[in-house]
Amino acid sequence: MLLEVLKFPDARLRDKSLPLEKGDIDDVLRELAQSMGATMYDEPGIGLAAPQVGVHKRLIVMDVDWTESERDLRILINPEIVHREGEYLSKSEACLSVPDYSADVDRDARVIVRAYSLDWEEVEFDCEGLEAVCFQHEIDHLDGVLYIDRISKLKRDLYVRRRKKLLRREQEDDNPPSPY
Ligand code: NI
Repeated sequence: MLLEVLKFPDARLRDKSLPLEKGDIDDVLRELAQSMGATMYDEPGIGLAAPQVGVHKRLIVMDVDWTESERDLRILINPEIVHREGEYLSKSEACLSVPDYSADVDRDARVIVRAYSLDWEEVEFDCEGLEAVCFQHEIDHLDGVLYIDRISKLKRDLYVRRRKKLLRREQEDDNPPSPY
């Protein structure tokens, strides 16, 4: 099932997500994870965090190098960065919840991430580059942080103004002036 992805400035993107426990892993959660994956591929994107679909649980899905014919969906619970090092400029980072925008973001070059699988096995990833950036980006979502929080205030303000103007225009189109 495809889910609606919340868009900035929806306040729900700012809420912190809660850790899951082993007992929380049921069919409903599995179904949610599959739907998040389907939504991510459909949008299309390379990662999606549960709060982006309005569910404030520490669950993310990722597939950084998928193609139409090759998909390998990673579903991760309670992901946590346990080590980070180096500096990396993430070029033109973007987000399904931040429409019509991309920007360069300072990120860590290498991260080690620990998480649980749906079968509640502990898994660890030691990664660099795009994969490391994706982890940082998705885990930020779980803490209510968007990548535009990590760019200069000037750039962010410009985007926020442009986005609000667009939303106002959309609203006006939806609500034409009443006839008199
Ligand atoms: Ni995002």
